[in-house]
Amino acid sequence: MGTVRLFLLLVLVMVATTRGDRYHPEKNAQNSQQLQRNPDAFNTAERTPEFWKNSAKAGIETRLKDIRNDKLARNVIMFLGDGMSIPTLMAARTLKGQRQNRTGEETELFFETFPSVGLSKTYCLDKQIPDSACTATAYLAGIKNNYETVGVDGRVQRGDCLASADKSTHLDSIAAWALDDGRDAGIVTTTRVTHASPSGTYARSAHRDWESDANVTQAGFTTDVCPDIAMQLITTSPGNKFKADKATDPTLAELTEVAINSLSRNEKGYFLFVEGGRTDHAHHDNWAQMALDETLEFDLAIEKAVEMVGDDTLIVVTADHAHVMAINGYTKRGGDILGPSDDLGGDNVPYMTLSYTNGPGARPHVDGNRVDVTKEDFMDLEWRSHADVFLEWETHGGDDVAVMAWGPHHHLFTGVYEQSHIPFRMAYAACIGPGLHADACSSASLLHPLSLLYAIVLAALYHTAQW
Ligand SMILES: *[C@@H]1O[C@H](CO)[C@@H](O)[C@H](O)[C@H]1NC(C)=O
Ligand SMILES: *[C@@H]1O[C@H](CO)[C@@H](O)[C@H](O)[C@H]1NC(C)=O
Ligand SMILES: [Zn+2]
Repeated sequence: MGTVRLFLLLVLVMVATTRGDRYHPEKNAQNSQQLQRNPDAFNTAERTPEFWKNSAKAGIETRLKDIRNDKLARNVIMFLGDGMSIPTLMAARTLKGQRQNRTGEETELFFETFPSVGLSKTYCLDKQIPDSACTATAYLAGIKNNYETVGVDGRVQRGDCLASADKSTHLDSIAAWALDDGRDAGIVTTTRVTHASPSGTYARSAHRDWESDANVTQAGFTTDVCPDIAMQLITTSPGNKFKADKATDPTLAELTEVAINSLSRNEKGYFLFVEGGRTDHAHHDNWAQMALDETLEFDLAIEKAVEMVGDDTLIVVTADHAHVMAINGYTKRGGDILGPSDDLGGDNVPYMTLSYTNGPGARPHVDGNRVDVTKEDFMDLEWRSHADVFLEWETHGGDDVAVMAWGPHHHLFTGVYEQSHIPFRMAYAACIGPGLHADACSSASLLHPLSLLYAIVLAALYHTAQW
């Protein structure tokens, strides 16, 4: 294309003060194990068969109203809950309900009401359990590649700078496909803009850690051969202009609103990537409550987006990979999702409903006995849940993650499929990129020969270690 490509980056930097203040105001205090949630007091109707028959009927009626939408998707918004495993969904929805003094299990997250749901397989080329860089390459560029590499194909091994200097290994993401079509593209994240997930929209690197020039030289390479990710953001297509803004204390929903308002100025449409990055960080710390809080913040951002857009916008919500948080049996109905299970271990020591198979929360045995963690202050936001195997940081999990879709061609997202299919399915609906396109595309007359291409990056600095 001979047109001048203007890539305008607006960065809203959120200055963090102390962890938790911003995203977890007082509301945590009310979530006390003292709350009595006797299901009989709340859900008496559930004991009648009519309740469940009516529930099923309403479910069918809702499905029948979820008519196919074969329109062209002018806009695509992808919401990525980093590390938002399926157990995280159950635990977050239960916490949401319990904060409203209900038993909780019956609650729905907003995005769980989307008409189509599928499962994506998250392994990367060389690892059964993936990281956020190879998964970002899959769900943004449509190609599976190696662990901790981003935006390059499977010929590049992790850390192989020379292999990644071969431009034939470089991949374009769906953000680039949108820009090539004259649409806009934007990123909203609660992590660094150069962090693995958002970097999947613009970077090509043999190592996700090469975020700054210091990291590249430290690894023994030079940035003229392997430019760092920050440099790629500013100097490499799609990008050559930078404008910085500052905002303090925005929520993810507010950042999403600003981004949608800005991007909506392009009549041709846009691709927006919104990452809720802290669910992953909290899980790595075995901070279950914080992981659930972040998931609820993420849900609010999705609700805000649906409020703002029309039926020509496809919204896809998914996670990059799972975590190893488990929901242990057999807690009574309405039992505090953050509290103890009602049962004792074989060693007569209680255990929690939520725990992890590994991570920093592993406690050494005392006098040969497992520690009774229910005596600890487990309502503290930074209380580490119990873990079995000690690791400095809890690991990702290898299970499939959910994909929820709303808007044009939402039905494409049902089934069990490779994570790398996701951007091609979004691009099919939006008539962009190198893959198949929907029938509606051939009759579409959206093209302007000249258009202003720009992207918006809304970033929130995260102030502790990143993954
Ligand atoms: C839940 O119950 C507590 C104690 O009765 C009450 O103080 C609180 O306002 C209730 N919260 C909601 C959301 O209804
Ligand atoms: C990258 O370099 C920065 C700045 O020197 C440093 O703080 C950071 O720890 C490095 N990252 C890695 C993964 O080595
Ligand atoms: Zn992670």
